[in-house]
Amino acid sequence: MSLTGKRVLLIIGGGIAAYKALDLIRRLRERGASVLPVLTAAGKQFVTPLSVASLAGVSVHEDLFSLTEEASMGHIELSRAADLVVVVPATADLIAKAANGLANDLASTLLLATDKKVLMAPAMNVRMWLHAATQRNVAQLERDGVLFVGPADGEMACGEFGPGRMVEPLDIVAAIEKALASSTVIPLPGNGPLAGRKIIITSGPTHEPIDPVRYIANRSSGQQGHAIAKAAARAGARVVLVSGPVAIPDPSGVTTHHVETAREMLAAVEAALPADIFIGAAAVADWRVENAGAQKMKKSTSGMPSLQFAENPDILASVSAKSKDRPALVVGFAAETENVIAYAQDKLARKKCDLIIANDVSPERGVMGGSKNEVHLVSKSGVESWPLLDKDEVARRLVDTFSAHFKKGGVA
Ligand code: C5P
Repeated sequence: MSLTGKRVLLIIGGGIAAYKALDLIRRLRERGASVLPVLTAAGKQFVTPLSVASLAGVSVHEDLFSLTEEASMGHIELSRAADLVVVVPATADLIAKAANGLANDLASTLLLATDKKVLMAPAMNVRMWLHAATQRNVAQLERDGVLFVGPADGEMACGEFGPGRMVEPLDIVAAIEKALASSTVIPLPGNGPLAGRKIIITSGPTHEPIDPVRYIANRSSGQQGHAIAKAAARAGARVVLVSGPVAIPDPSGVTTHHVETAREMLAAVEAALPADIFIGAAAVADWRVENAGAQKMKKSTSGMPSLQFAENPDILASVSAKSKDRPALVVGFAAETENVIAYAQDKLARKKCDLIIANDVSPERGVMGGSKNEVHLVSKSGVESWPLLDKDEVARRLVDTFSAHFKKGGVA
């Protein structure tokens, strides 16, 4: 991807890896991008404003309270002026400030004020990186939508070995290209292409109890459904996520209801209706155990326990079938291990939804529980196949598809 015409706001933090930021500026400019450099007070201990400005071809922003800098470009304007904000190196201090919303210097203020995606390339001592506080801060920033590249494993300037080394400038360039490949503006709540729309999403597996300590489940991790919830919220929608038991955090900016069984999931969906869009991304168990024990089943010499199954309600089909309060767009998933498209077409007709997102979940494809997905959009108007993509990217593209549906006022 060419970076021609792209503007990168580059915050250079105070770490020995700051020298790599100089090379990064060259690499970005070689590819046609322009760089707006910002140097923290600590960053200035490692690289000089003169070398940064010479390589960037523009002056360096250093001070939140500089009259001359504010006169040429105020900090709010500067925070919005670029297509992407990149922090190189992202020190433990900058990460902690950003995770907690501190704004006591130019760099942290820009990170709080920006409406653009932020990409951080961490660099620090291995113990600082592995410290619970840093890991907590990184997890918080990831929930907030901040992107990370690295750190890598390796020998450090301090002589220790482990994760904490900043990745190389070309790896950061690749991460910048990836981040710029989709929309970078983060709308305020109430803005964005799905502003004013309400979306209900089911996600994750259901657990169907056998007795108080045992249950039937499946391998769904909830990653795809949660990613859609996050992307929809970022597009300005009011999102209700009804999640089965998962090991991933609730997405920020989304109302999440936690349920266990299919029947609880249906009740939570019914309670959240009406909505403009319903997305059934959960892997709902088709059956529940009808004779689930009130007490833990005991081993017995008189033979094996026998489980009787009852069919669970089909949440997707029941939302599709609503005469009153049917969402304008009802979207289902079809996770199959064979005949993916044909089964999806059958499901589209049988469950009367507007769109089925079909994917192959054969174990060798690593989709269930993995971070990537290869989907086919099956609707009455045909089949659209997408390449293998990160689940986050699939989510962003789906949200673009839903937005286009409402713009056109038609069926996706
Ligand atoms: O029939 P199948 O389970 O393959 O259909 C998958 C789609 O139907 C998914 O969108 C899933 O969330 C939804 N579904 C549901 N309730 C069920 C079973 C499936 O909402 N009981």
